Amino acid sequence: MIKTQNPQSKIQNLKSKISQSPYQAYVYSYPHKTAYRPFTPPIYLPELWTQQDRQALFLYIHIPFCEMRCGFCNLFTTVSYNEDFISQYVCTIQRQAQRMKAVLGDASFARFAIGGGTPTQLPIQHLETILDIAENTMGAKLQEIPISIEVSPETATQDKLKLLRSHSVDRVSIGVQSFIESEVLATQRRQSNTQVEAALTRIKEAGFPTLNIDLIYGLPGQTVDTWLQSIHTALRFQPEEIYLYPLYVRPLTGLGRTDKEWDDIRLACYRQGRSLLLSQGYTQVSMRMFQRLEGGQGGQGGQGSNISSLSPPFPSSPPSPIYCCQADGMVGLGCGARSYTDSLHYSNEYAVSAKGISDILQAYIQTPDELFDYTHYGFQLDTDEQRRRYILLSLLSHEGLNLVAYRQRFGSDVYADFPELSELLTLNLAIKDGEILQLTEFGIERSDTIGAWLFSKKVQKLMQGYELK
Ligand SMILES: C[S@@+](CC[C@H](N)C(=O)[O-])C[C@H]1O[C@@H](n2cnc3c(N)ncnc32)[C@H](O)[C@@H]1O
Ligand code: SF4
Repeated sequence: MIKTQNPQSKIQNLKSKISQSPYQAYVYSYPHKTAYRPFTPPIYLPELWTQQDRQALFLYIHIPFCEMRCGFCNLFTTVSYNEDFISQYVCTIQRQAQRMKAVLGDASFARFAIGGGTPTQLPIQHLETILDIAENTMGAKLQEIPISIEVSPETATQDKLKLLRSHSVDRVSIGVQSFIESEVLATQRRQSNTQVEAALTRIKEAGFPTLNIDLIYGLPGQTVDTWLQSIHTALRFQPEEIYLYPLYVRPLTGLGRTDKEWDDIRLACYRQGRSLLLSQGYTQVSMRMFQRLEGGQGGQGGQGSNISSLSPPFPSSPPSPIYCCQADGMVGLGCGARSYTDSLHYSNEYAVSAKGISDILQAYIQTPDELFDYTHYGFQLDTDEQRRRYILLSLLSHEGLNLVAYRQRFGSDVYADFPELSELLTLNLAIKDGEILQLTEFGIERSDTIGAWLFSKKVQKLMQGYELK
């Protein structure tokens, strides 16, 4: 039985957390990178990966370059680089990929994503090399699997979009944030509506099956009216997906505000934005993610429903090996990428400040080939953490937590392992529909509280003890 805390105190804890800010932690992965620590001694990857099912892996390549450093962003990315550095970075990914291919042996990939930063910040020949590494070094069958890429408006040029489409990339996710120029500029993001609309038109013309638009609410100067205006403008481009992100401000990211009034604005924006999208035929996949239904129009129908909001969904024809969001197996290449096996998550070190990021990038490009066979930094998931991760991934997406699937996977009853889960029902945060525990409308709205509440004591402690660089 997995009990680390008196359930009664957990219950009180949830009740009081729900009465606080709905914006406590964006749970896009568990555990968060700030819970990672050095491994001593380093872990030998060939041994780690032989224990993992490698037939439906997720390949992720990280490009940490941007045209600008937006005031709100705490992603691992830089604006200080030159052509030569980019070439060295791409060569290093190639070297890392060759070692990883040998580490993985007989493996196949069920999906592929290029993320950032801004992958399309790469000059086109390097973007082509990245696609080549995925296909020819790693052996991913690009024609058969869903492929997603993140772009920014200025870098989504026609030639790059054409290249991506010709390599079967089927999902383009563009950061827009707001269609009100003054709101965007207040975050130190240089972007005009003319640029954004031209980029959206280019993406539509290039014929990608899925366009995703990212928007942010809670921006400086934003009101519910201007927020709805941004969503209406986004809808003109008929995106198959829209992500509505509440603005989070974190240390070292250049924006600062924490007050009740701000929470109220974000909550009002969330509620009205959600209603608008539902009225326009979108379904809500998670607190942040909305998807256009087949016939309502486009969208991914059944496939989308199998995919957690914690990792971007991918459309198109079903991949040959079926990817399951709760089953880990992610191979990350590039300096800021994470890799997951069931029992171990690892990456390079994490930083947000320009100096911290630059030091880590320099160390990455100088890594000797043989050191790519080891990982020095990450988090070991014992059975309690694996169960928590499974619960988080399921519960925070619209598929919900399947109690039978949980029992099959872990050989135990979820309520015996985590009796405090029943409090979600008492507090009207979830309902039980047959064997599925699913968040209610109120629960989805409080996803960032529920997620943080499910973190183990150990992870909370590590996150609190992390010194941001
Ligand atoms: C990798 S970026 C998207 C692609 C590209 N770099 C761009 O900005 O156009 C991922 C998305 O995360 C969201 N995001 C990043 N930091 C955030 C924050 N602090 N609060 C809310 N949303 C955030 C933004 O909507 C952003 O578009
Ligand atoms: S939001 Fe996008 S463009 Fe801006 S700094 Fe973050 S990754 Fe770069």
